[in-house]
Amino acid sequence: MALIEDSKSKTYEKPDFSRHANQAATAPAYFSVWDLHAYYGESYIVQGVSFNVHEGEILALLGRNGAGKTSTLRAIARLDSPQMTHGEIWLDHKHLHTMNSHQAAVAGIQLVPEDRRIIAGLTVEENLQLAQIVEPVGWSLDRIYELFPRLGERRKQEGVTLSGGEQQMLSIARALARDIKVLLLDEPYEGLAPVIVDEIEKTLNIIKQQGITTVIVEQNAVRALMLADRAVILDTGTVVFDGTAQEVLDNEALRAEYLAI
Ligand SMILES: Nc1ncnc2c1ncn2[C@@H]1O[C@H](COP(=O)(O)OP(=O)(O)O)[C@@H](O)[C@H]1O
Ligand SMILES: [Mg+2]
Repeated sequence: MALIEDSKSKTYEKPDFSRHANQAATAPAYFSVWDLHAYYGESYIVQGVSFNVHEGEILALLGRNGAGKTSTLRAIARLDSPQMTHGEIWLDHKHLHTMNSHQAAVAGIQLVPEDRRIIAGLTVEENLQLAQIVEPVGWSLDRIYELFPRLGERRKQEGVTLSGGEQQMLSIARALARDIKVLLLDEPYEGLAPVIVDEIEKTLNIIKQQGITTVIVEQNAVRALMLADRAVILDTGTVVFDGTAQEVLDNEALRAEYLAI
């Protein structure tokens, strides 16, 4: 499949979920979002989003400003707002749609939000230790500092005094400090210089090699597509494309229509 021709029509074609599977068509994907609908009060924002991610894959979730990317990530992380009214979310045979955000985190979902949420008054190390107060704990601090040497060097520094790039690394590191299966990244490259983006991209590739599955939302679509295996494009809360990242890079018309690049 490439473009879903009539995404606004109620009868639009759903992505063919069997086409990416290397396994039997009946086997569920590692991480599946099926027909997700979510509201902010009366505002109907996530309007039937579905996609599949295989274990260890990086999926770029793209679309213009206001397309519903952040809302989709928040619904998947089971935050209260937007309120999910319909849909299923499966991770490694567990159904997240019946869980609250705390339970979803225990099941292995970690959302790194756009504003990074570094806790003021705490050092780098204390920010990481706080993430490990509750079980299940993920990477050790030593392993985290091996991946992010700069955080190791600055472990005694207050987290909010770090540079933007270092704060982004700290918020990713904090997710790894939890026992994580799926990393949800909301605009991790925002406001960062290209050289810092290079560094974070390298780190995300190493995290991928460790078998962690990643969903990355980015306005910097080209950089996200260079990192990702596959891409899903949202427009007004619905999926308008589901395919490989390369297909999007190669399809100028698609990029112009939905990504304005
Ligand atoms: N807290 C909220 N209350 C009401 N509407 C919201 C809220 N947050 C986002 N929206 C609306 O939901 C739509 C999708 O927003 P969002 O998911 O943030 O898009 P994206 O991340 O793709 O830019 C937008 O129209 C936005 O105005
Ligand atoms: Mg957003």
